[in-house]
Amino acid sequence: MLRKSIFKLFQNRNKDDLHDSQFAKDSLEQIQIPRHLAVIMDGNGRWASQRGLPRTAGHRAGAENLRTLCSLCGKRGIQYLTVYAFSTENWSRPKTEVQALMELFVEFFNRYERELEKEGVRVRFMGERTGLPDRVLNIMNRAETDSIGRPNMQLIIAFNYGGRHEIVSACQKLAKAAAKGDQNPDQIDEVLFSSALYLPDVPDPDLIIRPSGEQRLSNFLLWQAAYSELWFSDVLWPDFKEEHLDAALVDYISRERRYGGLSKHKTESGAEK
Ligand code: FPP
Repeated sequence: MLRKSIFKLFQNRNKDDLHDSQFAKDSLEQIQIPRHLAVIMDGNGRWASQRGLPRTAGHRAGAENLRTLCSLCGKRGIQYLTVYAFSTENWSRPKTEVQALMELFVEFFNRYERELEKEGVRVRFMGERTGLPDRVLNIMNRAETDSIGRPNMQLIIAFNYGGRHEIVSACQKLAKAAAKGDQNPDQIDEVLFSSALYLPDVPDPDLIIRPSGEQRLSNFLLWQAAYSELWFSDVLWPDFKEEHLDAALVDYISRERRYGGLSKHKTESGAEK
């Protein structure tokens, strides 16, 4: 019942439809759609080899699927979508695969820039820029500048990103400020530390999805994932479709996030309220 209602609701997320549907309005108030969804786009290589194709064909199919996912998330009212597109560890892959991923990145924006604009998607990046080829850096600068102020959703691409590296960089920033006398070390707390990360204004991810059967974070958003809900699936990323996204959302909606506290349905003695 819950699943059916929520699917119906998702299909009705168009604001005009909502005016006509008291059911949808009431349900929407109760349902907590994740504000920030993060996805580890894993399984492209296996998807390609299952079809006798080169790994790069899998990445290409994965990039197409990212475009689709972005639209689906926008329709569902998700405000931030962060995807893991290239990790600091991915440099260890064969040179041809690394080059193909760089090309695909450039191609993605050349191809979909207009559509992203139409859908009001602001594009941002997280990761180290040093070491990236100029053609990638130019695209990043253009995509960021052109999309500032787009209102509907933020697409955040983690590119040349590593969670540990991000944390170490934040430590360095704060340590340098302390060494210069601009920062009192005793005043460094979690909020201040977060402000030294790549995108301090972006809220922590509510839900992290990893397809392809692997169940680990692989250095993705290590600080930000402290209280994220995790959802895994055996489906390979290029095959991850609307029905899988909705299954993850329905599961997320049914969970109670306690952030280390007690269930709101439990009394102090542990009995159900
Ligand atoms: C992991 O799958 C995926 C990657 C390392 C790259 C992900 C990149 C894309 C989906 C496309 C590029 C993105 C943009 C922004 C255009 P894997 O290759 O490790 O798969 P496997 O585990 O099956 O080998």
